[in-house]
Amino acid sequence: MSLFSPDAQRYQRIPYRRSGRSGLQLPSISLGLWRHFGNDSPLATMREIVRTAFDLGITHFDLANNYGPPPGSAETHFGQILQDDLRAYRDELVISTKAGFPMWPGPYGDFGSKKHLVASLNQSLRRLGVDYVDIFYHHRPDPATALEETMGALDAVVRQGKALYVGISNYDAATAIKAAQILRQLGQRMVIHQPAYSLLNRWIERDLLAAADQEGFGVIAYSPLARGVLTNPELDRIGARSDGEDPPAARLRELADLAHRRGQTVSQLALTWVLRDPRVTSALIGVSAAEQLRENIQAVDAPALSQDELDRLDRIFPVRDHP
Ligand SMILES: NC(=O)c1ccc[n+]([C@@H]2O[C@H](COP(=O)([O-])OP(=O)(O)OC[C@H]3O[C@@H](n4cnc5c(N)ncnc54)[C@H](OP(=O)(O)O)[C@@H]3O)[C@@H](O)[C@H]2O)c1
Repeated sequence: MSLFSPDAQRYQRIPYRRSGRSGLQLPSISLGLWRHFGNDSPLATMREIVRTAFDLGITHFDLANNYGPPPGSAETHFGQILQDDLRAYRDELVISTKAGFPMWPGPYGDFGSKKHLVASLNQSLRRLGVDYVDIFYHHRPDPATALEETMGALDAVVRQGKALYVGISNYDAATAIKAAQILRQLGQRMVIHQPAYSLLNRWIERDLLAAADQEGFGVIAYSPLARGVLTNPELDRIGARSDGEDPPAARLRELADLAHRRGQTVSQLALTWVLRDPRVTSALIGVSAAEQLRENIQAVDAPALSQDELDRLDRIFPVRDHP
């Protein structure tokens, strides 16, 4: 029996944003389980992170078939925590998983065929111990499979009741528009796109955000802290360095200066910035400790960025092409 009793105030903590023009709302900060949920991390730490997230109103947990190590273990661990602590709250959770990166040997263990997507989702459901996931993603474009087949597979898993909503990840804007249109013809909505987006990677501002607006899908920004670069510990690391100042270090120092003036930490400012655009539904972060989550969540309490602050950030981190 679980001893977990979630915070009764959890829905007063953070805002929820609608994913495009769908009916689905997501917390403005979501938790990803790519790292720190494999066999190399203690289950007690994972449990504390997941419980803290739920207590803070983070209803959305993002996984993929291959998260680990080894691949699959993050789903198994999350499934265990779900069973122990959150079983009674399944309907308060949005659980996502994905398929499309290498998962098992042979031609059916990877990419975007219907064979791969359906088999992989069946495996994910078993590891998670659930009847359905809330969002199922195609994880990356497959240049060798017709988009009609991949989108047809997403449509099929919704009709089979194995996923409520579907999305795509790492697709360029033109292909994302085609994917959304194919799904629409099948009577399905593409609810969300999951691209990388941070001050250090602003590619979605070129055309993907406009595509999201046009087609009505939401955008959940992954690695908004650039995998841990846009944080105070990184600033401390460069501060301790004795070699000369390089451009990335100088930019991080400028960011830290602005964060300090605003009374924020570097990660909080990085998240406030990602969430400044209403077309971004959620910032999808990772954490190695519950304390990081408590720090990051305060990003949603900060005052909006002024035009001066936005201009300054544009100067430090200009929009660049997709790396
Ligand atoms: N669709 C895709 O292809 C794709 C690709 C990548 C990620 N994702 C998703 O996005 C999620 C997040 O990705 P990410 O881990 O790269 O995100 P991130 O939020 O950019 O970076 C997370 C890392 O930042 C550090 N961090 C976070 N908060 C901190 C704080 N307050 N103080 C100090 N350090 C802090 C931690 O590093 P330490 O571990 O060093 O403490 C943490 O592991 C993944 O879990 C996954 O769900 C999707």
